[in-house]
Amino acid sequence: MPINIKQASDLSLRFLDELEKPFVGRHEEALIITLALVSGEHAVLIGEPGTAKSAMVRRASELLEARFFKYLLTKFTEPGELFGPLDIKGLREGLYKRVTVGKLPEADIAFLDEIFNANSAVLNSLLSIMQERILYDGYTEIRVPLWSLIGASNRPPEEPELEALYDRFLFRQHVKPLEADNWNKLLDYSWKLEKGEESSVEPVMDMNTLREIHKAVFTIDLSVIKPRLIKLFLVLQEKGLYVTDRRKGKILKAIAAHALLYGREKANEDDLIVLKYTVPKDVEDFDKINVILMEELRTKERVLRELEEIRSNILIARKAVEKVQHFDPRLTEYYRSLKNTRNRIMNLIRDFEDEDVISIADELIEKIDDTLQEIMAKLNM
Ligand SMILES: Nc1ncnc2c1ncn2[C@@H]1O[C@H](COP(=O)(O)OP(=O)(O)OP(=O)(O)O)[C@@H](O)[C@H]1O
Ligand SMILES: [Mg+2]
Repeated sequence: MPINIKQASDLSLRFLDELEKPFVGRHEEALIITLALVSGEHAVLIGEPGTAKSAMVRRASELLEARFFKYLLTKFTEPGELFGPLDIKGLREGLYKRVTVGKLPEADIAFLDEIFNANSAVLNSLLSIMQERILYDGYTEIRVPLWSLIGASNRPPEEPELEALYDRFLFRQHVKPLEADNWNKLLDYSWKLEKGEESSVEPVMDMNTLREIHKAVFTIDLSVIKPRLIKLFLVLQEKGLYVTDRRKGKILKAIAAHALLYGREKANEDDLIVLKYTVPKDVEDFDKINVILMEELRTKERVLRELEEIRSNILIARKAVEKVQHFDPRLTEYYRSLKNTRNRIMNLIRDFEDEDVISIADELIEKIDDTLQEIMAKLNM
């Protein structure tokens, strides 16, 4: 049964909430895993030991009813460990076949811990599985059902031969240790976990539901956001943050998945936040992109904050206008400044379709227009 945007949003938000629940300060990590699943892409969590990377991935697997394959890669992991051992009986008959039961080629979701330990014996197969969903294995070519591969690692890859693997993870997050103001909560949560209070977990959805949610991603209207995204790619490039061509197109899908998650039929500026999780490559990039996005994005939060600032300025101007006498020369100055503020509001909300923002902007414009009238009356214009 097809799922509409509202249902898709409700379900994915429930998944996100449940995933995040037992952890402190791990909203973004839960968001990334959820977005990767909804968009059918791969995600990697990079961070110091003990920052709950594995624990989050484990919980995600409990919340989704699917065929999972989990493995911890070492430098010495052999293809058979991931893709299944060679079929000895087949070999005797001259057939080169793998027994893939319970291994990665039969999984919907794969969790590979210490992913950047991947050595040359497994790397090429991983690359084609991730990109084409095909396992090329010497003599055989198997289509695999893999939906998302979630990786974890203590470090981004340094070896050039791992670049292609890293590039295939659309979502990347640098998981940082918690700041001191979260430590108290962390102790309480860990205590609960140790006591086993966070035990039974009910799955939120199965693979069929996830596939339906995924279909809804492609119904999202991206017309407003596409030109904005292209402009942002340019800004980022000027500041030294390059996005490979493979990722440029995929980022649009991440934006659509984010819009769907929050129940929007039309993607807006808020959805560009996914750039934070899709553009960075080196560890420094994660901080860099944050600063750039804060400057560049006209998110709802930021617009509302600016409107509130404008509101208090209007109030001050109104009081000033009330106080001064007719024909006071300062009135023309107030007039000019209010006209500018009016333009600023119009610019701020141009193409912005959020109801809360529009209604506040309308209210402020009305206040400005009243005050402008009052000034004109005092100036006898
Ligand atoms: N933010 C957090 N909120 C709640 N519990 C946490 C948090 N961070 C760590 N923990 C606790 O620490 C445990 C260890 O985390 P986990 O093994 O998942 O870390 P990791 O990032 O995978 O480490 P490694 O890189 O060594 O594999 C978790 O199971 C959890 O009990
Ligand atoms: Mg781990």
